[in-house]
Amino acid sequence: MLKAECFFLTFTATETPKMAFRKITPQILEEFRLILGEDYVCFDDDSIRNYGHDETEDFNFPPEVVLKPVTSEEISSILKICNKEMIPVTPRGAGTGLSGAALPVFGGVILSMERFSRILEIDERNLQATVEPGVINEVFQLAVKEKGLFYPPDPASKGSCFLGGNIALSSGGPKAVKYGTTKEYVLNLEVVLPTGEIIWTGANVLKNSTGFNLTQLMVGSEGMLGVVTKIVFRLIPMPQKTIVMLVPFFSAEKACESVAAVFKAGIIPSAMEFMERDAIDFAMRFVSGLSIPIKEEVQAHLLIELDGNDLDPMMKDAEKISEIMTIFGSDEILFADTEEQKQNLWRMRRCVGEAVKSHSVYKEEDTVVMRAELPRLLKGVKEIGKKYGFRSVCYGHAGDGNLHVNIIKGDMTDEQWSSNLPAGIREIFELCVELGGTISGEHGIGWVQKEFMDIVFTEKSLQIQKGIRDVFDPHGIMNPGKMFI
Ligand code: MLT
Ligand code: ZN
Repeated sequence: MLKAECFFLTFTATETPKMAFRKITPQILEEFRLILGEDYVCFDDDSIRNYGHDETEDFNFPPEVVLKPVTSEEISSILKICNKEMIPVTPRGAGTGLSGAALPVFGGVILSMERFSRILEIDERNLQATVEPGVINEVFQLAVKEKGLFYPPDPASKGSCFLGGNIALSSGGPKAVKYGTTKEYVLNLEVVLPTGEIIWTGANVLKNSTGFNLTQLMVGSEGMLGVVTKIVFRLIPMPQKTIVMLVPFFSAEKACESVAAVFKAGIIPSAMEFMERDAIDFAMRFVSGLSIPIKEEVQAHLLIELDGNDLDPMMKDAEKISEIMTIFGSDEILFADTEEQKQNLWRMRRCVGEAVKSHSVYKEEDTVVMRAELPRLLKGVKEIGKKYGFRSVCYGHAGDGNLHVNIIKGDMTDEQWSSNLPAGIREIFELCVELGGTISGEHGIGWVQKEFMDIVFTEKSLQIQKGIRDVFDPHGIMNPGKMFI
């Protein structure tokens, strides 16, 4: 018997799907078993519960069944059935997403990519690699590092997130400021279309001016246009040295102001992260053994990394950065002396999101503006918070103008939380657009931001995007309920 309920906090989608979805019958289930074998068609209580949520707030939508294919052909057969029978399919990587893009909001099939975990080739001659989408980001980074190569995209969840999920959301991370996000590294993709055909989107070349760019259309499409089954990445040589510095400020806005000045001076750090005071305090409480002496008056920090192969010019850049920071009122800069100190500073930065979220019910926004507008964004977020009565903890990729705004419930009542928040978030997003930015820099739209897409796109522009989806997925079975209302 299929178990279609979950034990805790279950949700159902409110939107009407394009066409009426059908439930999975015992006969369809039998067809799945014939394709995958008994062991990879799961509907026990644990599977239904564990695959019903990702890292997005407290959502849980129970799927009807969890399928675990291992070849493109198996996925093709599954999608042909689902397309014919009108069964919704939600592709899923490691479930580390923060916008609910992997939530099976209409039930149906969860297509777990966990068995697609092979690095197929690291081509040292061409500085490329071919991988399956279920490879963990950091496992891939370390494998190419052994060959002296570098795959820079490094989301905070790099130790657990899958490369396929990174493609679905065009994930970023601290290194994006110098090296770009996932999309900059994707050359070619094997994709199983919602109707079951298998295509390659491009060619394994560095230049390509041939036809529409289906590869880049797939990147960031949140699993709505097909299932990525192979990825060809370009790689770059691994820089050998880093300098890491932690810069304290007595004013968070001044810290943000200093960011654009560094780039204006001709320096591109390999990371430039902002953490307001609360963020660093939460992180230090969350991770044992992490402790940095911080003066009481310090309001924010920038964590800056420079990389390269030659320490002399890197030191000169670090000195120049120190001078710029002083102009903006920084306090004494901490330079990490050892590899361990560098790792600890990064550990602290990477756990901020988790630390803040472990503290209270929360809602995370992934705002992004032009770099020089960051101070106005931060100021605006705090003013909007005051107006609507919420506290936020801000941190993120300052060099990219990408500020994560974690709104925490703290002692707000349920009533205040549910009535004040949507209007407050809408105002924050309107401010982003006013400042030339948009509503997500790297977490995607998924389930939780879709009601705000009208702030960014005109009706016509949304129509074009939905039209593209319909070309790929005429029955609307792939990851329905996401990105658009
Ligand atoms: C980060 O930069 O820490 C990540 O995007 C994760 C998060 O904000 O929770
Ligand atoms: Zn981030």
